[in-house]
Amino acid sequence: MTGFQRFFLKTEIVSGPGMYGRFGAFAGKRVGIITDAFMVKSGVVDRIRAKLPPCEVEVFSQVVPEPPLQDVVKGAGRMAEFRPDVLLAIGGGSAIDAAKAILATLREAAATVWPIQLAAVPTTSGTGSEVTCYAVISEPERGLKHPLRGDGLVPDIAVLDPELVLSVPAKVTADTGMDVITHALEAYVAVGASDFSDAFAEKAVSLAFANLTRVFDDGSDLAARTALHNASCMAGMAFNAAGLGLNHGLAHAIGGQLHIPHGRINAMLLPLVVAYNAGLSADFGSCLPAAGRYAAIAARLGLEASTPRAGAASLAKALSRLNERLGIPVTLRAAGIDPASCTSIEQDLVNAALADACTASNPRRPTADEVRQLIRAVAG
Ligand SMILES: NC(=O)c1ccc[n+]([C@@H]2O[C@H](COP(=O)([O-])OP(=O)(O)OC[C@H]3O[C@@H](n4cnc5c(N)ncnc54)[C@H](O)[C@@H]3O)[C@@H](O)[C@H]2O)c1
Ligand SMILES: [Fe+2]
Repeated sequence: MTGFQRFFLKTEIVSGPGMYGRFGAFAGKRVGIITDAFMVKSGVVDRIRAKLPPCEVEVFSQVVPEPPLQDVVKGAGRMAEFRPDVLLAIGGGSAIDAAKAILATLREAAATVWPIQLAAVPTTSGTGSEVTCYAVISEPERGLKHPLRGDGLVPDIAVLDPELVLSVPAKVTADTGMDVITHALEAYVAVGASDFSDAFAEKAVSLAFANLTRVFDDGSDLAARTALHNASCMAGMAFNAAGLGLNHGLAHAIGGQLHIPHGRINAMLLPLVVAYNAGLSADFGSCLPAAGRYAAIAARLGLEASTPRAGAASLAKALSRLNERLGIPVTLRAAGIDPASCTSIEQDLVNAALADACTASNPRRPTADEVRQLIRAVAG
């Protein structure tokens, strides 16, 4: 790989069972916990609070999945009154992203003249938000999802404790696990890919393929949970440096309008986007450069990859098989969503996918017509 490469390291990562006792540095500080109601009800917040040294704690637990802007405003108001030294996000990508958006809001306020640290304890193995500069905030009433971006949003500390993901239900495990694979594969072929991001993407794909079905079948398998949790973080490190692609651009557009869980819509799109990026369609002639990259991943996974085309095709097929194994529907129609609901907003979806910041780092620059074809294919 030649040319300019940037890889930014900031987050201290600790991984392992019980490692959430890492917070000694918070002694005497004001710690604002950002989380969701389930984390409070299930006792996770209390378990973590019990591990904190003596400090002032305020809990904001109103985060909901795909966090809406208005809840961010509410959380920022509460935290502005509390004046935290540390924001401690506990939860899935939604809680961590909400904490990031609250942090950005606090930092922008003229009254905030002290530094605020960000620590993240992910409780799903999916978004990698604990190490990324991204936060996705939604405006449900307008059907929009906004990816925010900034090096200041990268957490200072990430605590990866596999014991905290043991309770994730199989369906959420499947969706979030496919998000991990989507992050790693998009990063691997993205225009910003480098030797550094490749290293994390390759390891993340290998760990996720080897462990996702194990965790899906037996959620109490701590070794497999650990591997998948680490894979999620590594995939986050990969795409944080390399960027994502059209898969996420489409997933934000469709998920924002039709309210499908982020990982599931990513998973449904992934075999289609791999085939599109590789140029596998019969009318395309020779395949595209991304095919060679997909073939390299296919070879690592032990799939047939004697040529770039064969490797990309076998990767796309393996992804479809994995989706089927995890009970993820092939199309929106199969998921019980009337494809007409897609048709009526098709042009909005095309525009949103093309305008999404993730689409800019896709290896193949899509036309509006190509995006429309992909939407029709996933609608069914
Ligand atoms: N910041 C990033 O870099 C980035 C990347 C990809 C996606 N995202 C965003 O992250 C959000 C999705 O995050 P997610 O997939 O982690 O899901 P989530 O945070 O929305 O959680 C999904 C559900 O699982 C529950 N849950 C979480 N942890 C659990 C546990 N340990 N046991 C049982 N239930 C648990 C939650 O309460 C929630 O109901 C979306 O808004 C998506 O757009 C962000
Ligand atoms: Fe994602």
